[in-house]
Amino acid sequence: ADADPGRLRALAVEVATAAGALVHDGRPDRVEVAATKSSPTDVVTAMDTASEQLVRRLLRAARPQDGFLGEEEGHEPGTSGLTWVVDPIDGTVNYLYGLRSYAVSVAVVRSQGRPDPATWTVLAGAVVDPSAGETWSAARGAGATLTDARGSRPLRVGPGPDLGQALLATGFGYDAGRRAEQAAVVARLLPRVRDLRRIGTASLDLCSVAAGRVDAYYERGLNPWDFAAGWLVAHEAGAVVTDFAGGPAGGHGLVAAGPDLQPVLREALDLG
Ligand code: IPD
Repeated sequence: ADADPGRLRALAVEVATAAGALVHDGRPDRVEVAATKSSPTDVVTAMDTASEQLVRRLLRAARPQDGFLGEEEGHEPGTSGLTWVVDPIDGTVNYLYGLRSYAVSVAVVRSQGRPDPATWTVLAGAVVDPSAGETWSAARGAGATLTDARGSRPLRVGPGPDLGQALLATGFGYDAGRRAEQAAVVARLLPRVRDLRRIGTASLDLCSVAAGRVDAYYERGLNPWDFAAGWLVAHEAGAVVTDFAGGPAGGHGLVAAGPDLQPVLREALDLG
């Protein structure tokens, strides 16, 4: 199967744009919770399911040999060695409440079997933020781009400021025990930085690093679909993205920032 990152990027943008239009234009005035997952606050709406089904259908039509890993309906193995990793609505809690920060995240990775961030190669990705009219995309080795009504521009991350001047973003999982740990980290870090944002959408946190809208982002407890596409956007923009110890980023830890700030932040987090 064709594995050209540029063409895969174009397809990721196409399907994420279609799903972004569906969830944005179809958002009812009151969004109902259809089900809960890992905890009572980890919710699914009918639109999460509809968006994932649309993405799955479009990708199956375009590339029937590829596998699929989606937040809502799980893993469907393929035969091509490529798997699409999809969050149909990243920022579901924002979507539920009518906050405007949510996105559709579509990435394609090369992996043996079920995609594992420790060993996969992310080839292309797109993060579509329909409320902002912004499309973030990247192809491996070909850079990262932000496209909006004014056109497209390449993304380039600077070295990063001193920690004391840094605007950080982070996120919290749905598990109460983990949140207590995350609160302790925030208590330690907050007096040492410019400020902290909790945007509520991991994929957009990573794109925000790529665009310099925040200086850094860290989180523990992410799922592969939360960060696969955003990871590539940040990486291709020149950010350093690793786990807390400097190894491959994954659910156990992700820290993204410019090359000077990233190791300083990891040391301050002291989670490695
Ligand atoms: C969540 C968001 C949130 C992050 C959580 C994720 P979801 O994804 O990205 O910002 O802090 O860890 O689970 O559930 O909205 O797809």
